[in-house]
Amino acid sequence: MSKIALFGATGTIGSRVLDEALDRGHEVRAVVRNPAKLTKGAPGLTVVTGDVLDPESVAEAAKGQDVVISAVGGGDGPGHIATIKPSAEALVAGLRTLGAAAPRLVFVGGAGSLRKPDGTQVWDAEGLPEFLLQIMHAHGDALDFCRTVSDVKWTCLSPAATIAPGERTGTYRTATDDLIVDASGNSRISTEDFAVALLDEIEQPQHIGERFTVGD
Ligand SMILES: NC(=O)c1ccc[n+]([C@@H]2O[C@H](COP(=O)([O-])OP(=O)(O)OC[C@H]3O[C@@H](n4cnc5c(N)ncnc54)[C@H](OP(=O)(O)O)[C@@H]3O)[C@@H](O)[C@H]2O)c1
Repeated sequence: MSKIALFGATGTIGSRVLDEALDRGHEVRAVVRNPAKLTKGAPGLTVVTGDVLDPESVAEAAKGQDVVISAVGGGDGPGHIATIKPSAEALVAGLRTLGAAAPRLVFVGGAGSLRKPDGTQVWDAEGLPEFLLQIMHAHGDALDFCRTVSDVKWTCLSPAATIAPGERTGTYRTATDDLIVDASGNSRISTEDFAVALLDEIEQPQHIGERFTVGD
């Protein structure tokens, strides 16, 4: 059983991570901006207020925990892009203040920087909308930043190109920097199986200091 501080517990991905963590018997401290948005009660769940963009808030939430998970960003507004790299920086800055007692960081990244079978990166594709490109590159910048960090134990988990609520099959494939595609060339994962992969990584760490990706 791990003690987990979770940013983004009210989100599409974070809510599945929350359910998977609680189902496995972990203790989860959900760190939310507005507690009124997280009304579910469950054994092992506590809800506290915090802001992932504030290093002091991160440190406060992370104190005494084994792992900090971040699944923040999202939506169609400018707040999505503005949250991606600054949240990685604030998480690292906040955890640094805890020194050797700092928990591990596992955060949700993006698929844009993954390599496709033809050797190009996902964000090289023709015709991607500008907003999506900006999100992809913001995730790339956050990952580049984390790759300069050696004094905080971090892991980035990039979804497949498409991630959406669906079935929890409990099976998935992983790779480090290569996009996972099926026989038809589709790259996808359900949010439920993404959460399975993320919790598996927490229980059996295999990707400290690197990014990995998950697909079905
Ligand atoms: N294929 C891909 O590469 C792919 C696909 C989908 C998503 N993603 C990435 O995965 C991440 C999560 O996406 P999602 O769809 O789950 O997003 P979402 O449903 O919009 O949820 C975003 C979460 O972030 C929280 N949040 C935002 N700013 C925060 C702050 N300053 N402090 C604390 N919490 C904050 C929100 O809390 P509130 O409830 O307070 O708003 C919400 O819980 C995003 O970074 C997104 O870019 C990648």
